[in-house]
Amino acid sequence: MLDKIKALREEIASVVASDKEEVEQLRIKYLSKKGAVSALMADFRNVPAELKREVGQKINELKTFATDRINSLKDSFAVADDPGIADMDLTRTASPVALGTRHPLSIVQNEMLRIFAGMGFTIAEGPEIEDDWHVFESLNFPPDHPARDMQDTFFISRDPADILLRTHTSSVQTRVMEHAQPPIRIVCPGRVYRNEAISARAHCFFHQIEGLYIDKNVSFADLRQVLLGFARQMFGPETKIRLRPSYFPFTEPSAEMDISCDICGGKGCAFCKGTGWVEILGCGMVDPNVLKACGIDPEVYSGYAFGMGIERITNLKYKVKDLRLFSENDVRFLREFEAAH
Ligand code: DAH
Repeated sequence: MLDKIKALREEIASVVASDKEEVEQLRIKYLSKKGAVSALMADFRNVPAELKREVGQKINELKTFATDRINSLKDSFAVADDPGIADMDLTRTASPVALGTRHPLSIVQNEMLRIFAGMGFTIAEGPEIEDDWHVFESLNFPPDHPARDMQDTFFISRDPADILLRTHTSSVQTRVMEHAQPPIRIVCPGRVYRNEAISARAHCFFHQIEGLYIDKNVSFADLRQVLLGFARQMFGPETKIRLRPSYFPFTEPSAEMDISCDICGGKGCAFCKGTGWVEILGCGMVDPNVLKACGIDPEVYSGYAFGMGIERITNLKYKVKDLRLFSENDVRFLREFEAAH
C-alpha cells in the first residue's frame, strides 16, 4: 500500500497539461469520487490495524499534494485562457498616459518665432555663459561706462577673461555677425540672467527674443513696419504702436515701443496705469561701432535690432501678474494653458 501511494505521488508530480481541459481530465482521474486517490481510500479498510495510522497519514498527504498540484496547473491557464481574450483589441494603445502641457512661455515663444519666420527671420542661438566682449564690449558698452549698471550681472570669473551669465540676448547678434556677412536676418530666443531680488515683477532669470536685420539701405521705417506687423499678429489687427526715444549703447537712434493696451482698448485702465499704452520692447538702428567691432563695414551696411522679454509678452497675452509662477512648476498653473496651443 505504501508503495502504491509513493508511485501515485510520483506520477502526479510529473503530470503535465497543455490547457484547462486537460487539467480537468487530470482532476477527474486523481481526485474525483472514482479517481485514483479515492480508490486508495477505499482500500484503506484492508490495511492491517498496526499500519492504519501511517498509511492514513500518507493518503492524506497525497490528497493534499494532488489538490495543490491540480490547482497550480489550473492557475497557470487561468489568465491565458480568459474567455474575454477573443473580444479584446490587442492593437489598442494601453490606458492613456496623462501628457504634460506646453509651458506658457514656450507657447508664446513659439508663436513669436512663427510670426517672425513669416517675415523672413531665421532662428539663431548662442550660449548662456558668455564673455564680457559678446555681452558688453562689442555692443559698445565701454569699460566702466555707466551703461553697464543698467544690467546687474552675475559674474562667473573676473580673471583673466570676464566670464558671466548673459544679461541679454543681444550677445547673439555679435556671435552671428562676427562669422557672417549681410544680409543677416535673425531672431534669437533664449534665457538671460540678472542679479535681481526675486519678486512678482523681477526675477534673476527670464527670457528674451532679440531681432537683428543687417543689409544695404535698411531704415528705421523698415524697423517700424516689422514691429507693427509683429504687434498686430500677436495682439490683434486693431493694435496700435508708438515709438518713444530712448537710449541703448548698441543702437543709435534708440527707441522703446509701446502697444495700445488691449484690456481697455487704449482708453486707460488700471493695467496700463491710465495711459492706454504698455511698453513691450527696446529697439533702434545698430550703432556703427557695433558693426565695426564685428567686422561689418558701416559705410556699406546698416541695420536695426530689437529685443523683448517673453515673460512680458506672456503677461500681456494671458494676464499673468506674478513672474514667479513661470518657474514654480505648479501644475495647476501650467494646466491652465492646455487649450492655448
Ligand atoms: N538688450 C536690451 C535689454 O535687454 C533690449 C534691447 C534694446 C535689444 C534695444 C535691442 C535693442 O536689440 O535694439 O534690455
